[in-house]
Amino acid sequence: MIGDAQTTKKLAKANFEAWAGTYDHSLMNHFLFLPSCYTFLEELAGWQADRKGSFDLLDIGCGTGTFAAMLSGSNLRTGCIVGLDYAMEMCRRAQHKASSLASDPRVRFLHGDSEHLPFEDCSFDVVTCANSFHHYPQQQSVVCEMRRVLRPGGRLMIIDGFRDNVIGWVVFDVIIATYEKSVYHAPWTVMRSYFESAGFENITHRKFNLVFPAQGKLRRDLPDARQPQRVCSRETGRASNRLCPLLCLCVGY
Ligand SMILES: C[S@@+](CC[C@H](N)C(=O)[O-])C[C@H]1O[C@@H](n2cnc3c(N)ncnc32)[C@H](O)[C@@H]1O
Repeated sequence: MIGDAQTTKKLAKANFEAWAGTYDHSLMNHFLFLPSCYTFLEELAGWQADRKGSFDLLDIGCGTGTFAAMLSGSNLRTGCIVGLDYAMEMCRRAQHKASSLASDPRVRFLHGDSEHLPFEDCSFDVVTCANSFHHYPQQQSVVCEMRRVLRPGGRLMIIDGFRDNVIGWVVFDVIIATYEKSVYHAPWTVMRSYFESAGFENITHRKFNLVFPAQGKLRRDLPDARQPQRVCSRETGRASNRLCPLLCLCVGY
């Protein structure tokens, strides 16, 4: 799929160890990663509206822990929030961010590999993974691991590059793949087969644009994540060929 697994992971680790210091100030963070956090908050607000009680959440490939910090500051009813990342420096910065914003004992960060999650079966109600999945050389194994640590009735949410149209193909398969080297943005049909093979069902997805006109408004609305804002078109059924480079996939079992 994307070459030798160990080499691929080492390369990603080295890139992100080096990037961690400037990551939060990068354009990519502004235009891709932050909007992904808002999208997860929106999805979670909708999901929790139909449920009682709090949820425990694992964020895989958590980077500098921005999403965990936003979530802990939101009005969503959360239990523990765990961020996991393969780059030590990302975890260190995530921990620093969490303790400088508000030392919330529910939030912690671990160094680890998405392929071997250091948790018992059925440990979380929600697993999130934003902009990280394309770095995983064994993607089917990771989806099975995600399913293993989820409790029945739980939800997996993945956001990654949508490369099933010409723009997406150029952005992700040509430009990003050249820059990041060993990465694989799976087509929608492949993602669906991963979920089905792992035993997930109830698959929904949203596509959204690179530039988010509503981003400023959303930021002002935080931390009340229970006011869902429309940041992107929502579609159900199948991915269509619009010029939209990111895809948010939600599945459960
Ligand atoms: C582009 S960043 C996204 C960070 C964060 N989710 C966000 O949206 O800001 C990708 C992250 O995935 C992490 N990563 C890459 N390979 C990983 C692996 N095998 N296991 C866990 N994390 C991994 C990287 O270290 C990096 O922090």
